Amino acid sequence: MNIVLIGFRGTGKSTVGRLLANRLERDFVDSDKYIESATGKTIKSIFEEDGEESFRKIEADTIAELSKADNKVISAGGGAVLKEENVRNLKDNGFLVLLEATPEIIHNRITQDEKTTQQRPSLTDKKPLDEIKHLIEQRKHAYKNAADFTINTSYVSCEDIVSEIIIMVNKPLNK
Ligand code: S3P
Repeated sequence: MNIVLIGFRGTGKSTVGRLLANRLERDFVDSDKYIESATGKTIKSIFEEDGEESFRKIEADTIAELSKADNKVISAGGGAVLKEENVRNLKDNGFLVLLEATPEIIHNRITQDEKTTQQRPSLTDKKPLDEIKHLIEQRKHAYKNAADFTINTSYVSCEDIVSEIIIMVNKPLNK
């Protein structure tokens, strides 16, 4: 069974995913990083040169491939849950953990991350904080419907989030 982290940008998927994988001695796969090394392009340049639709197609193929693996910790791109096909594939052999945070905290985290300007494409023509609020509102049902379990990461340390995920993942096994 894979553990799959879903949620909007800046909710901690990569940081938590890496820590979680370390603690569980599993491999960590970030779907965006996987796409970047497979295509030799940054996500931003795929968006700019080929368009979002083309990125979503590559993302769906990548998720289908990653979902065949077992015992991985997978971080899925923030928009991955928008395609039902992706959710179905990920759920096939995965426990889906939704990471959430307030728009203001996401905004702070993203703007403090130097990779943002180089590698994160804008998804709308709105100002950054407005884009975050708008997309979270637009996607909230898709995130919730996909999630087996939700953690708000706004005020919790990554170590505590990891511990909480481990407890939740083991729960069904202990019953
Ligand atoms: C996207 C989120 C990004 C990346 C792409 C699109 C989105 O992933 O897949 O820029 O639609 O929210 P992260 O959530 O890992 O930043």
